[in-house]
Amino acid sequence: MTLALRGGSPVRTRPFSSWPVFDGAEEARLLRALRSGNWGRLDGQEVAEFEARFASMHGCRHGIAVANGTVSLRVALLAAGIRAEDEVIVPSYTFVSTASAVVESNAIPVFVDIDLDTFNLDPRRIEAAVTPRTKAIIPVHFAGQPAEMQAVMDVARSRDLVVIEDAAHAPGAAYGDRPAGSLGHLASFSFQSSKNLTAGEGGIITTNDDALAEACRSIQNCGRIEGGLWYEHHVMSGNYRLGEFQGAVLNCQLDRLEEQTCTRDRNGQYLASRLAALPGLHPQARPAICTRHSYHLFMLRLDVERFGVSRERVLAALEAEGIPCSSGYGFSLPAQPLFRNKVFGPYLHDVVERLDYRRVRCPNSDLVCAEQCVWLAQNLLLGSREDMDDIAAAFEKIHEHQEALKELRLPAPKTTVS
Ligand SMILES: Cc1ncc(COP(=O)(O)O)c(C=O)c1O
Repeated sequence: MTLALRGGSPVRTRPFSSWPVFDGAEEARLLRALRSGNWGRLDGQEVAEFEARFASMHGCRHGIAVANGTVSLRVALLAAGIRAEDEVIVPSYTFVSTASAVVESNAIPVFVDIDLDTFNLDPRRIEAAVTPRTKAIIPVHFAGQPAEMQAVMDVARSRDLVVIEDAAHAPGAAYGDRPAGSLGHLASFSFQSSKNLTAGEGGIITTNDDALAEACRSIQNCGRIEGGLWYEHHVMSGNYRLGEFQGAVLNCQLDRLEEQTCTRDRNGQYLASRLAALPGLHPQARPAICTRHSYHLFMLRLDVERFGVSRERVLAALEAEGIPCSSGYGFSLPAQPLFRNKVFGPYLHDVVERLDYRRVRCPNSDLVCAEQCVWLAQNLLLGSREDMDDIAAAFEKIHEHQEALKELRLPAPKTTVS
């Protein structure tokens, strides 16, 4: 068998499961919402129904739907009472919003490195990052695997910190017998188009705290309060409401979540067991307390020395073998131009001079960004066990033909940082 990159037959020619998944159920519900004439969140029933169902599936009494998973972090931070120049601990390996929402609250993101095996915030490093100004921690359930919440909550309790789970990747995931989204004081989910539950855009905050829920509800609705007048505004806030069409789609998508999550989790565990057998491949390590991984991403670390060939070559070879894949984030968050150059607009004006993200060291996230991380998207895990066998077979083929792959000329990667 010759590598597909060198003209051989690819391991896979059929496409993987497509995303998003929808059928007549979404069409009917959308049409019903359309014909009702109640298109806004405050007129219709779709968003309200979705909030109640999503919250209860995630072990919470309250769900407050919002426009997206960036706004949900912002609303959660505002509801938690984060004030100007407070410090908020965030992982260095995550989507920009986890930290930019902190800046948008006029607070200071403090980056803590991840554990190299789980890709989640390393709880052993949190304590050292806490200062008298620290007010909150945002652990991310990266790729859909709950962060080490026991340890995070222990630090939070001892230092009186608010914990906001960034559960954008983790609808349906579980930690012991508790769903992701019910583990901290507040949690934030995203329904952007790539996410496991999607309406193109959207987000929700979940909580079991009545006062925090009330604050979130007011902040997402222009500072209005329950029983107040339409033009009566109590707190600094915005219009972050989700619309009824998205609510309609999300209600249908929610009907599919349980089954899809079981499929992804089953396939993800099987694929991890196959790939772990190859030298130098380290699928995301899964602590026993993760009872359900939602696999928004299937992630693995490629130890280049042991596998024998660089990530760029492996990715190019995988694509040629018919396996869509990516290297994920190109930078740890503190190395992003936004933070290196502190381009914070009107935020953090009085302290920006003393902040220096160029000095922040996060060697684990730097290593996975620069040379080790490989991502497979969640839809690849929605298919059959044979699909997983094809992915594993492609990795095995590439490993077997590493010498041939090393000799190929590849185009130079396109990444720059100022
Ligand atoms: C970890 C994480 N947090 C927050 C967000 C922001 O969500 P949204 O795109 O819905 O604003 C995303 C991704 O999109 C994410 O991956």
